[in-house]
Amino acid sequence: MLAAIITLQTQENASQNLIIQRPPSGLSLQGRISIPGDKSISHRALMLGAIAEGETEIQGLLLGEDPRSTAHCFQALGAEISELNTQLVRVKGIGLGNFQEPMDVLNAGNSGTTIRLMLGLLASHPGRFFTVTGDDSLRSRPMSRVVKPLQQMSAEIWGRNSNTLAPLAVQGQALKPIHYHSPIASAQVKSCILLAGLNTEGKTTVTEPALSRDHSERMLKAFGAELSIDPETNSVTVTGNAKLYGQKVVVPGDISSAAFWLVAGSIVPGSELVVENVGVNPTRTGILEALAMMGADIQLENQREVAGEPVADVRVRSSQLKSCTIAGDIIPRLIDEIPILAVAATFAQGTTIIRDAAELRVKESDRITVMAQQLNKMGAKVTELPDGMEIVGGTALVGAEVDSHTDHRIGMSLAIAALNASGTTTIHRAEAAAISYPNFTSTLKEVCR
Ligand code: S3P
Repeated sequence: MLAAIITLQTQENASQNLIIQRPPSGLSLQGRISIPGDKSISHRALMLGAIAEGETEIQGLLLGEDPRSTAHCFQALGAEISELNTQLVRVKGIGLGNFQEPMDVLNAGNSGTTIRLMLGLLASHPGRFFTVTGDDSLRSRPMSRVVKPLQQMSAEIWGRNSNTLAPLAVQGQALKPIHYHSPIASAQVKSCILLAGLNTEGKTTVTEPALSRDHSERMLKAFGAELSIDPETNSVTVTGNAKLYGQKVVVPGDISSAAFWLVAGSIVPGSELVVENVGVNPTRTGILEALAMMGADIQLENQREVAGEPVADVRVRSSQLKSCTIAGDIIPRLIDEIPILAVAATFAQGTTIIRDAAELRVKESDRITVMAQQLNKMGAKVTELPDGMEIVGGTALVGAEVDSHTDHRIGMSLAIAALNASGTTTIHRAEAAAISYPNFTSTLKEVCR
């Protein structure tokens, strides 16, 4: 069997086209894959390391663009962070409440997690003034979801569109604790409020409508914060005037990055892949459950716990997928995997329905519109719903010119779709993958046989 021809072309404007030519005879994917560190855990390790006392050692940090944005912001706030170019990153913390006033605007780049979590910390640093911004995508994403609860805690935040869009200015204050009932299941909202509660006298509680990823809770406890969790009501309470102490953090592989290979291995006939060291925290494993519903052949091997997070190697063998409905409480546990699940659904027998996922419209791009448009260019049958998609599976895809819309997960999802499309697919603005998966293309080349 001939391998696919995979080429990355850099354009004059520095953007990259990823060109995938599938041989007429098809291809198969084989091998063992190591994936980059978990993005959510990487952000939190850098942030908690920065506000802790003493040194934090981070092994396996994601060396992608998003954690680099976090590192730059927290360096500007006074933390010493070693270069992000090795597998071991050291953070010398400054202790809670000790941010210095940065000389310039804090730039969170493309990263919603950086700006939203950081806002909780900035707002609760009395007497200091901060300004925060991001790239074109981030400046159009809603900040009201964190600004409103922070204002309830008496934070002072200003910005465009009635203080809801970055750039934002923050005058740090001594905040008051609240019990916040979040209307959305969002780990960014939950974590923002909990981080604000750290430097606030009293107890701050967040209740969410469904459980979102709990990496902040796990790591806050490990760093010494006093935290109580009520699983019955999806509530977390943090006690203020906390003291955090530097820790050794081991970052597992990102299940959101593993997801591309789990779908690729399922849909490309004759494939068998093992993705090593995948974080399988139950608040993140919705993708495994959805693929199981679709009849995927996936096994967890060598299950273990590493530094407070469950980890496994995940084996996938190709199989004929079938449609399913993905809706309700599972959505926050697979929200970032919906673009690649849409690709899986395109190759599944029957009609897959994805609902209750309106949040996708305010991610790095409007992932409902963009995924539907781009997959349909390849011949898929995807219809947008206000809060999801309806995908009629089983139509053969044909190579086309598609675009990531600068959204990392869209670009990589389209690359996986291209492996099973006839002819040549060109993915424009493919460099977006570097946000969460800098070696995506080299791994793609390695596994294609
Ligand atoms: C994240 C939470 C999720 C997720 C994002 C990372 C986090 O966002 O989509 O990629 O690290 O807390 P929401 O909290 O907005 O759902």
